[in-house]
This record gives sequence, C-alpha cells and structure tokens, in this order.
Amino acid sequence: MDDLLVKINNFKTEIKDFVAQNSDDAEAFRIKYLGTKGLVKDVMGEMKNVAVDKKREFGQVMNEFKLFAEARYEELKAATSTATSAAIDEADLSLPADTLPLGSRHPISLVRNRIVAIFQRLGFAVAEGPEIEDDWHNFTALNLPANHPARDMQDTFYINQNPDWLLRTHTSSVQVREMQKGKLPIRIICPGRVYRNETISARAHCFFHQVEGLYIAENVSFADLKQTLYFFVQEMFGKEVKVRFRPSYFPFTEPSAEMDISCLICGGTGCNVCKHTGWVEILGCGMAHPNLLENCGIDSNKYTGFAFGMGVERITMLKYQIKDLRLFSENDVRFLKQFTSAV
Ligand code: PHE
Repeated sequence: MDDLLVKINNFKTEIKDFVAQNSDDAEAFRIKYLGTKGLVKDVMGEMKNVAVDKKREFGQVMNEFKLFAEARYEELKAATSTATSAAIDEADLSLPADTLPLGSRHPISLVRNRIVAIFQRLGFAVAEGPEIEDDWHNFTALNLPANHPARDMQDTFYINQNPDWLLRTHTSSVQVREMQKGKLPIRIICPGRVYRNETISARAHCFFHQVEGLYIAENVSFADLKQTLYFFVQEMFGKEVKVRFRPSYFPFTEPSAEMDISCLICGGTGCNVCKHTGWVEILGCGMAHPNLLENCGIDSNKYTGFAFGMGVERITMLKYQIKDLRLFSENDVRFLKQFTSAV
C-alpha cells in the first residue's frame, strides 16, 4: 500500500511542476492525467487491490489526488487562454484568410429555377407529383388508352412488381393530378425528373428534367398560349430571339404544335447547331384536348386551356452551348464550377 502512496505523491509533484506554454500543452495535461486512459483513472483502478479495512482511508487519498489534478488543470487552462489572446494581439489581422472552396448550383438547377421564376411572374404556381406513377395518370387520362400507338413515343420503364406502375415519362401526370382536384382556374408549372428507356448518348439519357405548364380557365385561346411562350423565350434568351410554331401531334392536345426559336449561334442565317435551318426546337405545346379535360372531371364545353412541356437539359444546352448531355450527370467539377452565377 505504501507503494501506492509513494506513486501518488510522485504524480502530485509532477503535476505541480507541469509547465504549459499554451492551450495545447494544457490539453496535453488533461489527456495525460484526466483523460479516459489517464493516470488518475489508472490510480483509481488500484482501489481493487487495497485491503478492505484500508479502503476508506485510500478512497479519501485518491479522491483528493483527483481534485488536485483537476484544480491544476483549471489553473493551466486559465493561464494559457490569456497566452492565446496575447498571441492574437500579435497576429497580423490584415493577412488574407485561408480560402474556402465554394460550391455552386448545378446548371440544370440554375436553369430550372430561372424557368420557374419567369412563369411565376405570369402567375403560374409550382405543382409537384410522384416520380413513380400509375398507368392512368401517365397515359390513360392523357388520352392514351392501352395499346395507343403514341405510347411508343415515350419508351417507358415499367416496375416489375406491378405492371400498372411505371417511372413517369413526363410531368403531364402532375397536371392530371391537379385537374382531378377540381379547383379552377388552374395555372401551374410542373418541374421534375422524368424517365425514358433510351440508349445513353450525347443527345439522350435514361432520365432528364422537364418543366411542363398548364392553364385552364374560361376562354383561354391559342393566342394566350403563343403570347405566354413568347414572353418566356424573350425573358430566357433575350429580346432579339424570334419564335415560330410548327403543327405537331400529341394525344393530349388539339391542335398541337412544336415551338422553335431562332438559332442563338448564327441568329438565323444557318450553322451546324441549327443544321442550317436557322431554327432550333425547344418545346411541345397545344390546347388541352377535350377528352383530357373530361377524363379529369372538367366540363370541356365551359373550360379551355393550353399546355406545354420543355426539357430543362435542352434549354440549358442551348443557353450555354453545351454539346454533350452526359456532362450533366458525370459530376466533373471542372465542368460544374463554370456555372457559379444565376442565369
Ligand atoms: N408531355 C409532352 C412530352 O413529354 C410535352 C408536352 C406537354 C406537349 C404539354 C404538349 C403539351 O413529350
């Protein structure tokens, strides 16, 4: 037992004489004596070897030893913290700080936010829906009954467990969900990720992002559609950009159109990007088909509406002249860090 007393006394001298120049030294003291594997714990562990009749006496000695170490630590800490503030006083505060790398928004998010902001200014609200859809919301309600040939236009991923479920091929399914709510008029845009079973290349991927829009009220006309989209294009690409509409086909709109803008690269004179036509296609649109309205419980004699849908990747590629779609999903920072500001 005497050995233990000698050991404790030696430690006490050591503790008393411990010198700490700065807060790191004080921390080293704490770890050495008071840490979970520290010497104080060690000494306390010896208690099990102390004879029963001496336990009380030794308990007090050890406790006192622990308090002694703790008090010394508080002392060292207090002394060195003023040393640290003295060091700060001497530091050159005009030195530049270490640079912190700043992240940036993904170009797809930047452009999507911009598209959303433009339509919000026209009074469109954002609506969202599930990425795993059922056949009815993605196809049937949109005037594409089973076996309709136009289903082939959208190579679909089906879900094995339930043939009625699929990954939505467009966000038109969100529009259906909004129409079913029965609150009119409707003026929404539906941004979101969509999936198509396409071979990955510079121009196609198995998923992409869309913003679709829908406006349903009384007396909505094709003129409203044209003017809305023209406003969007001018805000997005600049006042000098021209638009044209070409007749097209979508089962859920009648009439349907595809909208082109004058080529941003050559201004319409013809180049590689526009394949020497002077025009590039940016979106599909049309007047909501009466069958679509009726499928969703809306009186097609009273209400009319227009819809449109665009690919965010496509708009981004045109805006920034990006030639390969795969760049968006490869996570190469050299590519991503070029898009630090809002568009
Ligand atoms: N849903 C169509 C697509 O994904 C786009 C579209 C939406 C076309 C609305 C016309 C009207 O291809």
